[in-house]
Amino acid sequence: MFATGVTIVTARAADGSLVGLTANSFNSVSLDPPLVLWSLARGAGSMPALSTGSHYAVNILAASQKELARRFATKDIDRWSDVAFTEGLGGAPVLAGAAASFECFNRSRYDEGDHVIFVGEVERCTHAIGASPLLFHGGRFYTEHPL
Ligand SMILES: Cc1cc2nc3c(=O)[nH]c(=O)nc-3n(C[C@H](O)[C@H](O)[C@H](O)COP(=O)(O)O)c2cc1C
Repeated sequence: MFATGVTIVTARAADGSLVGLTANSFNSVSLDPPLVLWSLARGAGSMPALSTGSHYAVNILAASQKELARRFATKDIDRWSDVAFTEGLGGAPVLAGAAASFECFNRSRYDEGDHVIFVGEVERCTHAIGASPLLFHGGRFYTEHPL
């Protein structure tokens, strides 16, 4: 019953390949220094690249990016086919059309249960003024509806 936004966390692996997965465990931690967190399943395919790399980008998805959210949660496909992005800090892909992006230094990681909590230090952030967010609730995607 907890409604969240939806992100795609991206990085460039040491071998040059692109890594990215859909994650809604994102949250803010600290303003000074600027820190954010998200958690990754221990068995995730992207774990080796994300746990060892210096940087990743947390791309906050816009409502128009629902299909991208599905795609980056699907295994055994080419997630990056026709995806537009720019190269961010540490080579992490910053996705075109995202509502916002946080380019993070991979500051610390905490093993907890079957997930690893990543704390990232935000080195750069950008946002698209007026973008409608993609929301996730009860297994379905939504966008905002002002009360
Ligand atoms: C809306 C949504 C939110 C998700 N949030 C997370 C998350 O926070 N952490 C996580 O490890 N997986 C999350 N997943 C599942 C991953 O996206 C999925 O398992 C993906 O295939 C993992 O990719 P990888 O194995 O290449 O790392 C989420 C999936 C969806 C659809």
